[in-house]
Amino acid sequence: MNKTGKLFGIGVGPGDPELLTMKAVRMINEADVVFSAASAKRSYSLALEIARPHMSKKAEVRFLSFIMTKDKKATEDAWDSNAALIASVLEEGKSAAFLTLGDPTTYSTYGYILRSLKKIMPHADVETVPGITSFHAAAARLNRTLVEGEQSLLITSGAYGGDQLKRVGENVESIVMMKAYKNVKQNNDALKDTGFFANSVAVSKCGREGEEIIHNLDELEQRTPDYWTLVLAAK
Ligand SMILES: C[S@@+](CC[C@H](N)C(=O)[O-])C[C@H]1O[C@@H](n2cnc3c(N)ncnc32)[C@H](O)[C@@H]1O
Repeated sequence: MNKTGKLFGIGVGPGDPELLTMKAVRMINEADVVFSAASAKRSYSLALEIARPHMSKKAEVRFLSFIMTKDKKATEDAWDSNAALIASVLEEGKSAAFLTLGDPTTYSTYGYILRSLKKIMPHADVETVPGITSFHAAAARLNRTLVEGEQSLLITSGAYGGDQLKRVGENVESIVMMKAYKNVKQNNDALKDTGFFANSVAVSKCGREGEEIIHNLDELEQRTPDYWTLVLAAK
């Protein structure tokens, strides 16, 4: 019987091809099959473009399609079927890389894939390779410290209009709001209510073509921010 292959969950950084770790480069180079998420409509993946120069010539690329839907069952089915594809490669004794922009443990499909994979292949050999997150890249871009001394940092999502910030914001000095592309008005209100608004800044497409730094978040309300937008704020 073949020895099963190993899965590497690899963070490729926020978009700047130079912000890839040496370990990620090595693991990408060693993978027999490179998996990358793609939308149902387009098989383009920025994570793949970052990884491509480091892939072995023999490596096979496979796109995993994730439908964007609020239907929980359809979403879970997609995780399960994509995990099954990865499992079939591992069963053949091949190594696989699953690419994630930024870091794989931070708001990434990788977490769902891992959970599904563990159900069908409980003893799968998995190694997660951390990546530089978008918010670390944004803080560095702005030469801005995220936390110092005894301060605490909240990493949260703006997808639900700042609800989480209102619940927890009182207890931290610094926040990162990912997915700040929607509910901008509600997110701004939450930043104002919790005392973070005055020292806040939005960064879109950090380190990528079209990068924008928006110092006045009221401006964000006047337009449709890019999906790749986050907010850093502090008291
Ligand atoms: C699904 S999460 C992925 C986070 C990623 N795993 C990480 O570690 O940064 C997508 C959100 O990350 C943020 N993001 C990712 N890359 C970004 C970039 N280059 N510039 C600004 N925000 C980015 C945006 O808030 C976006 O809505």
